[in-house]
Amino acid sequence: MENNKCRTSLQILFAAVLLLTFSFKLSAQDGANLFKKNCAVCHTTTDVKLTGPGLKGVFDRVPKPADAWLTAWILNNEKVIKSGDAYGNKIYGEFGKAAMTVFEGQLTEKDVAAILKYVKNPPAPKGPDGPVASADGVTQEVTGGIEPVYLTLGIITLLIILLYALRSVRYSMQNSANKAHGKAETPELSFIEEAKEWISGHRRVVGVISLVLVFGGVKSCWDACFRIGVYYDWKTQKGYKPSQPIKFSHKLHAGDNEIACQYCHSTVEKSRHAGIPTVNICMNCHKGITTGPVYKDKEINKIYAAAGWDKDNQKYTGKENPLRWIKVHTLPDHVYFNHSQHVVVGKIECATCHGDLKTMTVAEQKNPLTMKWCIDCHRTTQVAMEGNAYYDRLHKALKEKYAGQYDVKFTVDKIGGLECGKCHY
Ligand code: HEC
Ligand code: HEC
Ligand code: HEC
Ligand code: HEC
Ligand code: HEC
Ligand code: HEC
Repeated sequence: MENNKCRTSLQILFAAVLLLTFSFKLSAQDGANLFKKNCAVCHTTTDVKLTGPGLKGVFDRVPKPADAWLTAWILNNEKVIKSGDAYGNKIYGEFGKAAMTVFEGQLTEKDVAAILKYVKNPPAPKGPDGPVASADGVTQEVTGGIEPVYLTLGIITLLIILLYALRSVRYSMQNSANKAHGKAETPELSFIEEAKEWISGHRRVVGVISLVLVFGGVKSCWDACFRIGVYYDWKTQKGYKPSQPIKFSHKLHAGDNEIACQYCHSTVEKSRHAGIPTVNICMNCHKGITTGPVYKDKEINKIYAAAGWDKDNQKYTGKENPLRWIKVHTLPDHVYFNHSQHVVVGKIECATCHGDLKTMTVAEQKNPLTMKWCIDCHRTTQVAMEGNAYYDRLHKALKEKYAGQYDVKFTVDKIGGLECGKCHY
């Protein structure tokens, strides 16, 4: 009787602690991940400024009640600024009217609450590193602090020790009770034997706990692997292929349906940026194409939600929700790269630098985008001068300059492709 009560309360204790640690783990990670994904491009949790202010101590400086003001600001800072909010306008001015992203529709209030919790209690920075912003807002983390996984493991270990200790207390209590009632001593089972007995009597509970543990383990492993670059090279981001807000497939569009790259990346020949198509470009076709081969209408409906298109009544509602594609390729700010120079003047195929998008269901970075990568190509690639109007005069001049010299190849380095100032601001 006593024995049972004691076991039941131990079971409840065990379940409660397990639940607590896991819920703690999840919420703590959510805030951190959301911050890294959405905010770390522009903010640190310390007082280091990036595009936006360092968020250390932000709860003390914003108008009170701080949580309400911060939530409104984070969801839609434009609205706060337009409302004439004095503090909002002050920092907006201080940061040179740099626009912070509007997160309404992308983050819920619950997400923001998780982010704020993380900002309030960020992991302790380790050494000089701190979080490193990558221009695409995708994780590149060098923070310290206790990993929630270790915390969970620590708590579970403590719990086992506690169980062990309680067990001998229970035995001695039971035996003294037995003695008082004139019964024989309960034989002391070994820990393993008792565990076996308990498990065979509680198969279902054991099943559920192992499932939770396995799930938690797999998820932590996944997260850890992702960070140390089993799936992509952490440093150069080669192999990086983030999942996008809509499951857009280049294979289906540019491959199977042979839509030209320039139809969507329309500025690639005119400017340094290739550009990502707006949802209006998608609507050119998807007003009519309402289902797809894999996801039926599920993914295409997201285009309608973004464009504010009411499919049933065939009209725009005006409630737009801009798509936020996650950038795959990113060069640091101090590097100048120009698409039209390479594509139009240099006559380099997209696939040389990006791999064959026509076979990719998810866009992936195929090359390292390091300085070495640029330079190696400039050293070995000949400038496409023959019949290239851009080079008519230069070609002649170079031919004269190198006249009579051994078989000269006009590789890019010969026209200044290794000069620091050409690639760096
Ligand atoms: C594209 C850059 C950018 C991103 C992304 C961004 N912010 Fe900002 N944030 C700014 C800038 C710039 C300011 C300064 C005010 C201004 O110019 O609008 C700011 C101001 C703030 C402030 C007020 C800080 C203060 O010192 O008073 C908070 C809080 C804030 N951001 C939180 C966030 C959170 C949370 C996220 C992620 C969900 C986020 N920001 C994402 C650029 C950004
Ligand atoms: C129907 C429109 C469409 C066509 C056609 C298209 N793309 Fe894209 N492309 C997109 C969209 C939308 C994205 C952003 C989402 C993503 O990364 O998948 C994108 C992303 C990319 C990226 C990654 C950009 C980044 O974030 O770094 C590259 C590179 C790219 N496209 C190259 C190509 C090439 C090369 C072709 C032709 C073979 C092509 N695209 C054809 C719509 C298109
Ligand atoms: C030039 C026409 C055209 C444009 C522009 C276009 N699509 Fe498509 N899209 C298609 C075709 C064709 C299909 C395939 C329909 C089929 O096979 O049933 C398709 C299918 C899809 C699907 C369904 C995939 C599936 O397997 O279920 C999605 C999602 C999609 N497109 C997203 C987009 C997005 C996002 C954009 C804008 C960046 C875009 N499309 C622009 C022609 C286009
Ligand atoms: C010489 C190499 C090279 C070639 C050729 C090239 N790209 Fe890129 N592309 C890059 C680099 C590097 C970036 C990253 C640029 C950055 O972050 O500023 C990039 C970025 C992009 C992006 C992301 C959006 C942007 O403008 O930054 C798209 C889309 C893209 N390329 C499409 C194309 C298409 C389409 C072609 C062919 C018509 C092409 N690229 C040819 C190197 C190349
Ligand atoms: C696949 C080969 C290739 C790669 C990779 C490549 N380039 Fe180039 N680049 C060229 C060629 C070819 C030219 C010459 C184009 C021309 O005729 O102006 C060129 C020209 C340039 C120029 C102009 C040089 C001048 O003297 O006018 C700059 C700047 C440049 N590239 C920057 C970069 C950067 C930055 C990267 C890496 C992110 C890069 N390139 C990667 C092939 C490449
Ligand atoms: C053809 C283009 C190109 C030329 C020429 C070039 N760089 Fe770079 N450089 C890059 C790119 C791209 C990166 C970014 C690479 C990265 O983040 O891995 C870079 C990064 C750097 C960095 C930062 C390194 C780091 O680890 O963050 C320094 C410093 C640098 N370059 C100096 C120079 C100097 C000095 C020269 C002239 C001798 C030069 N670069 C010429 C393309 C070039």
